[in-house]
This record gives sequence, C-alpha cells and structure tokens, in this order.
Amino acid sequence: MNVYLDNAATTPMAPEVVDSMIAVLSQHFGNPSSTHSFGRQAKALIENSRRYIAQLLNCAPSELIFTSGGTEADNMAIHAAVTQLGVKRIITTSIEHHAVVHTVESRQHNDAIDVVFLNLDQKGNIDLMELEGLLNHNVPTLVSLMHANNEIATLLPLSDVAKMCRKYGAFFHSDTVQTMGHYQFDLKALDIDFITCAAHKFHGPKGVGFLYVNKNARANSFIHGGSQERGLRGGTENIAGIVGLAKAMELAYEDLSKHQKHVWGLKSYMMDQLQGLFADVAFLGETSFEKSLYTVLNVSLPQSEKAGLLLFTLDLKGVAVSGGSACTSGAAKGSHVLEGIKANASRPNARFSFSRYTTKKEIDYALKQLEEVYQKNL
Ligand SMILES: Cc1ncc(COP(=O)(O)O)c(C=O)c1O
Repeated sequence: MNVYLDNAATTPMAPEVVDSMIAVLSQHFGNPSSTHSFGRQAKALIENSRRYIAQLLNCAPSELIFTSGGTEADNMAIHAAVTQLGVKRIITTSIEHHAVVHTVESRQHNDAIDVVFLNLDQKGNIDLMELEGLLNHNVPTLVSLMHANNEIATLLPLSDVAKMCRKYGAFFHSDTVQTMGHYQFDLKALDIDFITCAAHKFHGPKGVGFLYVNKNARANSFIHGGSQERGLRGGTENIAGIVGLAKAMELAYEDLSKHQKHVWGLKSYMMDQLQGLFADVAFLGETSFEKSLYTVLNVSLPQSEKAGLLLFTLDLKGVAVSGGSACTSGAAKGSHVLEGIKANASRPNARFSFSRYTTKKEIDYALKQLEEVYQKNL
C-alpha cells in the first residue's frame, strides 16, 4: 500500500483540474496578447478565471496578479513594500517560510531595512501586545506573518492582526499559501494588503498561483518586459495553469465545510491513536480546530536509537511523510521552524499532512507502520 501523507508539500491534482487543463492545452494555444481570435480566446480564459477567483474571495479582479506560485508572490509583495511603498521596517518571525525569511533578509541586506523578529511562544504564537507596542512607533512598516505555519500548523489570528495594522498605518502581507483553498476568505471584510496563493497546495497544478494586492496599496511593475497582468508582471501567461488554478479553487470551495470536517476528523483520530500507541508522544504547534491548520499534524516521537532512519523506513513501507528534525530526516541541519520554537531537536519528528482524498484506512496503515518501526526499535 502506498500512502501519501505529505500534502503540505504538495497535493495530487484533482481529475477535474487535469481535464480542464487538457482542454486548454489541446485547444487554446493562442498568445493572450495577440489581438486575433486565437489570442482573444486565450485572453478570455485568463480573465474569466480571474473574475471567478475574485468572486470567491470577494475582491476586485484587478487586485489579483497571476504568478508562478507562492514563492514568487511572497517575493513580489515584500519587494513592492520596500521599493515602492516606502517601507523602512519589516516585522516578521523567524518561522516564516523561506520564501519570506530569505526575501526579508535580502531586503535587509540590499535596502538597509530594519527587521524585527517577534517573540514566539512554544507553539509558535506571536504576542499581539508586543506587535502593537512595535506598531506604535511611527516607522513606515510592513508586517509579514503567515496565516498558518506549514510545519507546525499554528494559525495566526489574521483579522486581529489586519485590524491592528490598519489602525497603525502599517502594510500587512500574509503568506496564505497553506490556507488558500482550505479556509474561506472575504477580502473586503479582511482589509489586508497582500496575500499569496499556490494552486498545488489544494489539488491544482504546480507553477501557478497569485498575489492579491489591495487596490489601495497601489504597486507598480514587478517584472518588466511585457504588458501582461496590467503591466505588473511581464511574460506570456500560463493559460492552462491559470484555468487549472480556477478549477481547483472551485472544487475546494464547493464543499469546503465537508472537506474541513473530513480532514479534521482524520487529524484528531490520528492524534488519539498516537497517544494510545506512545506514552511519550507530543504534538508541536497548536492542535485545536480553532487554532491550527486542520491539514497538518506535527508529531514529536519518543527517542529511538536509530531515529535517523525513521522517515526512510516509513518510505520503504510506502508511507510518505516529511520531518523537521535533522535526526529524523537525515538532513545536516534541522528545520528553522523547530529551532524557532525551541523544540527538542534530539527527538524524532514527523509531519503528517492530509487532504480531502486521504482516507481513515490510509491513516490506520501509516499508524501500523509507525508502530512496527518502534516495536522493532529499528
Ligand atoms: C507557507 C508556504 N509559503 C510559500 C510556499 C512556496 O510556494 P511555491 O511552492 O508555490 O513556490 C510554500 C510551499 O511549500 C509554503 O508552504
């Protein structure tokens, strides 16, 4: 049996998404910038997708810029804030995705931006009072905080932070790559400046996503060389990818509460079973439905002499998971997220992540393999 429990890394494409893309790939090869009928058809596919996504998120179509995915969108937002919006300080955390951490570091280096890393508790939560205290200083600021952490699942109180940023006149970027397609967004009500999306995290294709830019943030060109995306991102568009993204969004939001209930059921079942199997198991990050991303469960397992082989052995048994500690994954360096919350680096660590296609049978199989690994003490 092969069990894929690494859906935070990427998800299998929905068959309906594949079909929607095949239709585009086989029939619509026109360049969307061409003025003839072939080009106009291709352009219409892009603009219909944009309108559809905007409707789902309650924003204006012109506020969405299609990108090659989450990394590019995060880069664009941070770059725009510093080079176009006059930001002189970035407030963030050390446990953001590298698409943010490394981009912030490069701006700090190249543009002499002041960077402040917020304190975190053991579950990866920020302290809103600390943030408010910092925002109270009159410095043009970008706050960049991810909606859900991709390794430990802890959720940010997004609308509280958005309100606070508005109150103090700071720009707010949130990496929503792990939550887009998994939670409802009402961008008019949320009133945020930048959020990001990668289609491959919710059964869409890889290499496509978007950056939402609030119209009040008024950014200029990010990638020069063409008038595509209203001049903000030059380059011939990935038409099939964009159509696939819109289809993946449609499927994700069609039955969202049903998917949430199913996946949360699997996560809580797995937590219960693990607690039954191991006396000394712990979960990293927040774990309740309200405070954690329901698709991710980060497990800190009991010490074992040969924990270095844990992920490898599970893989041999057909169970695909990822892990954050150097000792489990065989990597030279452990995860910056586990380091950021000061997790015990010597304990084996496994991140199980689920999707709407994951079944209880698969969870049972994974648990059985894990139990066997420990019984044999490797
Ligand atoms: C939180 C987060 N941000 C950004 C990214 C990068 O997205 P992409 O793979 O589309 O570049 C990922 C993907 O791993 C992610 O989990």
